[in-house]
Amino acid sequence: MNLEEKLRKMLPDKRFNHSINVANCAKKIAKIYNVDEEKAYISGLIHDCAKYFTKEETIKYAKEKKIDLDEFEIESTALSHATIGASVAKEEFEIDDVEILNAIKYHTTGKEDMTMLEKIIFMADLIEEGRNFESVDILRNLTYNNKIDEALLMSFNNTIKLVIDKNKIIHPKTINARNYILKEILSNKK
Ligand SMILES: [Fe+2]
Ligand SMILES: [Fe+2]
Repeated sequence: MNLEEKLRKMLPDKRFNHSINVANCAKKIAKIYNVDEEKAYISGLIHDCAKYFTKEETIKYAKEKKIDLDEFEIESTALSHATIGASVAKEEFEIDDVEILNAIKYHTTGKEDMTMLEKIIFMADLIEEGRNFESVDILRNLTYNNKIDEALLMSFNNTIKLVIDKNKIIHPKTINARNYILKEILSNKK
């Protein structure tokens, strides 16, 4: 069974279509930034494979596979599906490539010092053709015009603002990701 068929069985249509869109979008971005297009496609395709694990399933799965979820991930499947997804990609989809697994793992929070593949999957998830929110066209323009770091900074800023407005917890990895990339952008401008 190929990866697409396997994934189709795991996800509702809407999420499956999003996954195909992210895969194609990631491939397109990878071409611009000279990253392996096949790896980008696979990472994008699989990134949300654990999106529909319930909280109970997440905790059970993490225990079985000895995955250390942090205190934020234990509370939120919106966060844990990325870490769990990386493990499902390895176990169920038999993907051993660490770069792909990490691109899946960090697609929701981001982190400091991201690889180009990690940046691509993070952005593809947000700007794939089915996405429609206020600043999506600005993010698309930046990403497709060699300004992926600026796109990431804007995305982290948007996420942090949104989370503050909702009075929810911000994952520290997102704050670190934001500060790291801001410093990089500022030092490149010097
Ligand atoms: Fe996701
Ligand atoms: Fe996604």
